[in-house]
Amino acid sequence: MKIHHVGFLAKNIEKTEKKFFELGYEVESPTAYDEIRKINIEFLVNGGYRVELIQPMSEESPMYPLLKRFKNSPYHFCYEVENLDAAVEELSGKGYTVIQEPEIAPCIEGKKVAFLNNISMGIIELVEI
Ligand code: NI
Repeated sequence: MKIHHVGFLAKNIEKTEKKFFELGYEVESPTAYDEIRKINIEFLVNGGYRVELIQPMSEESPMYPLLKRFKNSPYHFCYEVENLDAAVEELSGKGYTVIQEPEIAPCIEGKKVAFLNNISMGIIELVEI
C-alpha cells in the first residue's frame, strides 16, 4: 500500500514546524482546526514525503492521551486505499483492531479515514483515495 503521510504528534505546531523547515520541509496545507477531533493539523512536504503535524488543542481530544504517551514524535503511517470499508474488513481479519471507525477527515479534503491498531505494528491510518 502506498504511504499517504506520516502522522507526527506535536505539543506546539509552530515550534515543531520550524524544526521541519530547517530540514527542508515546506507547507503543503497550512494549519487548520479539526473540530471533530479537537486538533490542529498541518501538512508539510519534502520531496515525495508528506508529514502531518497534529497538535491536540484540548484534553478532551482523542489524541491527547497519545501526546502524553509519545511526546513529539511520529506515531502513525497513513496508507492509501481505494475502498475503505473493504480494507478495514480485510485488516480486521489480519489481527488489526479498529480504533476509529471510518469517518470524514475535514483536513484531508473531506476524505474518509479510519484508524486501526495491531500489537506488532502499532497504529495505522487508512485514507480512501
Ligand atoms: Ni494521519
